[in-house]
Amino acid sequence: MPSHAVCPGSFDPVTLGHIDIISRAAEQFDELTVLVTHNPNKAGLFSVAERVALITESTAHIPGVRVDSWSGLLVDYTTTHNIRALVKGLRSGIDYEYELPMAQMNRRLTGVDTFFLLTDPKFGYISSTLCKEVARYGGDVTGLLPDCVLAALNEKFRNTTM
Ligand code: PNS
Repeated sequence: MPSHAVCPGSFDPVTLGHIDIISRAAEQFDELTVLVTHNPNKAGLFSVAERVALITESTAHIPGVRVDSWSGLLVDYTTTHNIRALVKGLRSGIDYEYELPMAQMNRRLTGVDTFFLLTDPKFGYISSTLCKEVARYGGDVTGLLPDCVLAALNEKFRNTTM
């Protein structure tokens, strides 16, 4: 049976740190679904459809990757699609503390396991939140985001007055 994993997240928007994790995870599994899921604690800048489109464009060069979205429990998606693995990136101990209870809860709910990949140090400080904040105030986030995301982010804030 081909191995299939889900890489879930808010991806608001996808960063080069995410793309690095996605491309490395895609080498470990036959299929990798990048899943835009709802985080009730985060208000979104990009719509789910926009996030899916940006991830699709940014991962078009990576074999075995597909992109989807889901508004329910993550484990309901994995169960529905008979997927037994989740993949997440860890930048630091703070990420670990944040991810650990979710991984344990997901495993308790359905037995799905979470595999963690350590972020390449050159992407260790990048987050969607920080990129949005810097871009909002006119800072340059070139080199931290895929080109299509950089353009979309600059467009979002083009008419923003501080
Ligand atoms: O990129 P994020 O915001 O850190 O990702 C968190 C996310 C979206 C993966 C998490 O909030 C999630 O799984 N949401 C779907 C709803 C769900 O299953 N919640 C219970 C998690 S144990």
